[in-house]
Amino acid sequence: MKKKTAAITAVGGYVPDFVLSNKVLETMVDTNDEWITTRTGIKERRILKEENAGTSFMAIKAAEDLLQKRGIEASEIDFVLVATATPDLPVASTAAYVASEIGAVNAFAYDLQAACSSFLYGMSTAASYIESGRYKKVLVIGADKMSSIIDYTDRTTCIIFGDGAGAVLFEPNEEGLGLQDEYLRSDGIGRQFLKIDAGGSILPASEETVKNKQHFVYQDGKSVFKFAVSNMADVSALIMERNNLTKDDVQWLAPHQANKRIIDATANRMGVEADKVLINIDRYGNTTSATLPLLLYDFEKQLKKGDNIIFAAFGGGFTWGSIYLKWAYNS
Ligand code: UT7
Repeated sequence: MKKKTAAITAVGGYVPDFVLSNKVLETMVDTNDEWITTRTGIKERRILKEENAGTSFMAIKAAEDLLQKRGIEASEIDFVLVATATPDLPVASTAAYVASEIGAVNAFAYDLQAACSSFLYGMSTAASYIESGRYKKVLVIGADKMSSIIDYTDRTTCIIFGDGAGAVLFEPNEEGLGLQDEYLRSDGIGRQFLKIDAGGSILPASEETVKNKQHFVYQDGKSVFKFAVSNMADVSALIMERNNLTKDDVQWLAPHQANKRIIDATANRMGVEADKVLINIDRYGNTTSATLPLLLYDFEKQLKKGDNIIFAAFGGGFTWGSIYLKWAYNS
């Protein structure tokens, strides 16, 4: 019997309409377009402004877009995974709500939280379920409303993050397409450099924590940058080596969109030319769990059946890794 692989068979996406440009940020904090552009590559980001709308609002839209494109009923989906660092509620599963709202009545659902690597890890989880033969249609959604945890008076973080959602469907493939290999890593040493201090089990919410702004993202940018550059480049080079891929065998690099300089360093290390690197950080900033699926959403038309794609991500925790995937369709 042929080995079953897990392929991406459809992509969906959603970004909010509201655009927060560098120019507008200049009026909010002590920063400027030139600094943001040269240090990060970001020009603008999207912000979800709808009242009472959380991450699920965007996840549902991305999922509905995907279902419509793939032409299947939500009731056919076996499992819905929502990769997110900003769930609607701290405890109740956002994925369960999303699954119910889209009509995935035969699915079970849960969230996966690994900061900016959530979607990458989610791809691995989805693929394992498919390869084992246990499930046939797995929906993985990467969605984050980063604006809900950002302090818009802190110039070191508010210029970086944005809101958005992307979704992919994994299905079995018998042509050997889909996920080929993965190399996933983590290291708890990183938790001091990128975190939210309060609202968890160590430091529950109190008047004090609110006053001290401890419910917002804190990042020691320089340290995270150093780890991100070396680790993302290392795992991407390693997965190429392990699969005997030269730079000419790689059609696309799909890197987490945290900083254009980190992306460039990863591409350089792999020897991959700039025109093979998928980039939309200029338009969305860092959307955390949504960066990778939003790349697929934006560049779907350019991806061809059989193309070799290397995904790479790095995030809080620390968490990081890379995935080698063969694209399964022409759109
Ligand atoms: O997605 C999860 C993983 N996250 C990442 O991968 C992010 C990694 N880190 C980074 O991308 C970068 O470290 C940042 C973009 C966050 C910061 O860039 P940097 O080149 O590391 O800047 P820096 O923190 O070393 O700051 C350089 C200078 C400082 O001024 P002095 O001390 O040299 O006078 C900062 O105060 O730039 C200043 N600065 C700013 N200036 C204008 C910091 N933020 C800003 C700002 N506008 N927004």
